[in-house]
Amino acid sequence: MNEQEAALRVEELTKALKKYREAYYQQDAPLISDYDYDMLEQELKELETQFPSLLQADSPTQTVGGRAEKRFAQVAHAAPLLSLEDAFDYDDLAAFRNRLVKAGVDEPLLLAEPKMDGLSLAVTYRDGRFAAAATRGDGMVGEDVTANVAAIASLPKQLKRPLPLLTVRGEAYIPKTLFAQLNTDREEAGETLFANPRNAAAGSIRQLDPKVTASRNLHLYFYDIIESSGLPQPASQSELLDILADLGLPVNPKRRLCPDLESMTAYMEQMREERHALEYDIDGMVFKLDPLPPRQLLGATGKFPRWAIAYKFPPEQAETRVEAIEVGVGRTGALTPTAHLAPVLLAGSTISRATLHNEDNIRDKDIRIGDTVIIQKAGDVIPEVVRVLPEKRTGAEQVFAMPENCPVCCSPTMRLEGEAARRCVNESCPARLYEAIVHFVSKKAMDIDGLGPMIVRQLLDAGLVQDVAGLYSLTQEQLAVLDRLGEKSAANLTAAIDASRSRGLARLLFGLGIRHVGERAGKVLSARYKDIYELMAADEAELTAIDEIGPIMAASIAGWFAKAPNKELIRRLADAGVDMQGEGGKETAAGPLRDKTVVISGTLPGIGREEAKALLEAAGAKVSGSVSRKTDYLLLGENPGSKLEKANSLGVATVSWEQMQELMAEGQA
Ligand code: IVH
Repeated sequence: MNEQEAALRVEELTKALKKYREAYYQQDAPLISDYDYDMLEQELKELETQFPSLLQADSPTQTVGGRAEKRFAQVAHAAPLLSLEDAFDYDDLAAFRNRLVKAGVDEPLLLAEPKMDGLSLAVTYRDGRFAAAATRGDGMVGEDVTANVAAIASLPKQLKRPLPLLTVRGEAYIPKTLFAQLNTDREEAGETLFANPRNAAAGSIRQLDPKVTASRNLHLYFYDIIESSGLPQPASQSELLDILADLGLPVNPKRRLCPDLESMTAYMEQMREERHALEYDIDGMVFKLDPLPPRQLLGATGKFPRWAIAYKFPPEQAETRVEAIEVGVGRTGALTPTAHLAPVLLAGSTISRATLHNEDNIRDKDIRIGDTVIIQKAGDVIPEVVRVLPEKRTGAEQVFAMPENCPVCCSPTMRLEGEAARRCVNESCPARLYEAIVHFVSKKAMDIDGLGPMIVRQLLDAGLVQDVAGLYSLTQEQLAVLDRLGEKSAANLTAAIDASRSRGLARLLFGLGIRHVGERAGKVLSARYKDIYELMAADEAELTAIDEIGPIMAASIAGWFAKAPNKELIRRLADAGVDMQGEGGKETAAGPLRDKTVVISGTLPGIGREEAKALLEAAGAKVSGSVSRKTDYLLLGENPGSKLEKANSLGVATVSWEQMQELMAEGQA
């Protein structure tokens, strides 16, 4: 690879890694497996080593993954919460040990600890009492999650000795069995599933209601001291863990001192076997230099300390046979192939299905029915077929072709240029209808509590609904005869359906499942138009002219509303009393904040950020997350952070919440 090619690849990797981080840390919903992420980061690191001129200061290899989100108050950590360098094989561990020896640590004694796959937290005790908790964030500034962590029953709220100050670092996790139960419950409630226990833990803490955290049965293990006073200085990591345990803090009992490379790999192998029997997920082993004094000397890079390394377990693989390939149909009509496998034990559970993604993947890997294949599970994600073992073919294998007709409604299927998926062309295919209803009722759309996928299935099977509008004519009597629904739940459900009538145009537009129209587009359109009819009358050119609506989305929206069955659906929803009013052209938006861009910084007095945002939007303002030249006002709360500096340097006006309220009031006058 020459430097020019490398530059392109570096740019591509950087962009992809940033996107994956955002999904993992901010949305708590990863897009790829941890292993695949690590491999991409590794590739980037190698390119940056080979071509040092391509190394950017903000490269994902140089920075810690997270970022403190604005919906929480921000807290600066007393000392940076660093990450760990990754090792993937024996050689990486040998190199790490050699680096220690070279730096003057003779015969380094390492302490091995399980690498918990949870959410990293800093927890502070003052005078021996629980006082605060923060997420790692970007390592320097974290999110204040004190109220949520206070709701974790298993966390000691009092130390055994009343030290003036102790901030410890640890990992919060959801025990695996509780995780499985949590996802079953969510499935029944029609909520999106957590991808793995790590996301479940993070999602349970990085949300705004402590009651939710309390209901999730989280646990913690601590492994480091960030700041303390009144404690003896420990001489080693082992001693540090003992001190924490003596204070009554939970410390992982699994650890081992490793005097040489052989004992390191032996313990690693042992834990790799044992991991499935553990109550929590581990994704590797951490090796830390046990004596503490040499750590000072070794120091840290911007991202990780030089005295520790994390060995990551490789994804686990197993060999099995593809018995059949089944094709499902999703909400957008996309056909998704799934392999049915001879059941096989993999990563502690029995696997009988694997995703095949799409037809290109099947063709590229030449996966045939009857093939012996290697499947892999990285973390707790859905298993996938890695490759075929062609040497095991008998000649009886069948080449698979995606069906020309939809497996559910028999309509033709089509693959558009540039798309990976083949789709059923029938807009009212029953399979699509099921997915469409599940989406319509979901939390971020019409939020019909209690209407989970199982109930949707039953409603369709019983012929009680033919489209989403049909939900609004369901009676309590009809619902009460469904499986699992008693009279009380049927009453709750009718109330929930009723309440969903007033969710507003933004959620309705998102809920209709128009391709490319996500939550944000729903809001943008609802802010622009007076009601759905005004939107229906808009042509592509008008839509494209709206900020944030691109040509592809505009074409999709105009195309959707042009179809007679969709117009009919809107009419039926309107007849059912579903609110279709937008905010466009409303009187209130005529005030001084109309079309102004506002950025909020710091904690506002007496009002939450989301609430303030809603008020500002109602007054016609756009609320943005970062300060730029386009910003009109910086709304200043307490502890504003770096946005204030930026606003000052750009000459952006700053206003207090009080002043902002006055501006909003002017709009109403
Ligand atoms: S020590 C300065 N020990 O793994 C050293 N980290 O990939 C800081 N983790 O951000 C980390 N178990 O969230 C350490 N026994 C353990 C750990 C552990 C899990 C997490 C931690 C860290 C990440 C690095």
